[in-house]
Amino acid sequence: MKHAPGSMILGIGAFAPEKVLTNHDLEKIVDTTDAWIRERTGIERRHILEKGKTNSDQAAEAAHRALKDAGLKARELDCIIVATITPDSFFPSTACGVQAKIGATHAAAFDIAAACSGFLYGLALANSLISTGFYKHVLVIGSEVLSRFTDWEDRATCVLFGDGAGAVVVGPSDGKKGILGAYMKSDGRLGHLLSLPGGGATHPATHETIDKRMHFLKMEGREVFKHAVRTMVDAAEHILKETGVHASDVDLLINHQANVRIIDAVAERVEIAHDKIFVNLQDFGNTSAASIPLALDQCRREGRLSEGDKCLLVAFGGGFTWASCLIQF
Ligand code: UT7
Repeated sequence: MKHAPGSMILGIGAFAPEKVLTNHDLEKIVDTTDAWIRERTGIERRHILEKGKTNSDQAAEAAHRALKDAGLKARELDCIIVATITPDSFFPSTACGVQAKIGATHAAAFDIAAACSGFLYGLALANSLISTGFYKHVLVIGSEVLSRFTDWEDRATCVLFGDGAGAVVVGPSDGKKGILGAYMKSDGRLGHLLSLPGGGATHPATHETIDKRMHFLKMEGREVFKHAVRTMVDAAEHILKETGVHASDVDLLINHQANVRIIDAVAERVEIAHDKIFVNLQDFGNTSAASIPLALDQCRREGRLSEGDKCLLVAFGGGFTWASCLIQF
């Protein structure tokens, strides 16, 4: 390790909506099969946020749990960062919605849009803000309600996504535990392969944009797959090199949960043993920015994060964006 960690995770929390949509349920909606979805993705079910609830509602729930875990009060937070591509609205930000709901009266709050890499972008930012002494306690949330932007007539995408939220409270390191390194990268030239084209300033909502289904997420799955593997291998290798940690010393790999074939391909190329890979996409589908904090929460609850463990987090998403983070627990 090159430097002592400047920040560490003080608390973790998550929220998964109660309603579950299985692959068999999807068989009744579009021309698909449980066997195809399992074989091509590894997904078996996903959670769907109930009508009337918002992104900031579920994000606030995850935030409450992370704060409780950290033993902190909301008013002790200096900053709230929400990573999301499915915000409550363009503005005010979802983070401001969370701030109001949890009563974090002293915090600055803003969203970041880096798709599935958003949570790791937020964690990297929190690490910098805390390491430089600018802030003491930063809440980083990944929260998505993708079900509201999914085209339920497009079998190529609607079987993939799910809703949920995960949160971490980040604070100053104790000198041993913490974030050993963080890495962020983008390539805007490939943005068209994974996007939500309608509703922004380029294509404001009109009857035509609605008729053309432009307000739903679009993805060139096969192309995205190739770039996802390439970029996440880059992200993993970069952070290992920068921190001087060997792949065999990684205790747990948490990849963005999009497709089990992508996760396996990344682990194989980075040479991380199969028993060190965490996979929960069978239960959640692809929850974009929420995927890594949901996984972190589950790993912790299942006892897969012991003191001293080195955990490698790697993500890829629309933009394109990709990122990694190495944490010592
Ligand atoms: O979260 C950020 C980034 N997202 C990702 O990383 C996702 C990356 N991409 C993927 O995970 C995969 O490309 C998918 C899971 C999206 C698709 O798997 P694939 O093996 O690449 O399938 P494909 O798109 O090449 O389609 C293969 C066949 C096609 O039929 P033909 O043309 O071979 O007759 C599709 O029409 O599978 C068909 N197909 C389906 N069949 C049943 C596509 N979706 C479905 C479906 N059920 N839901």
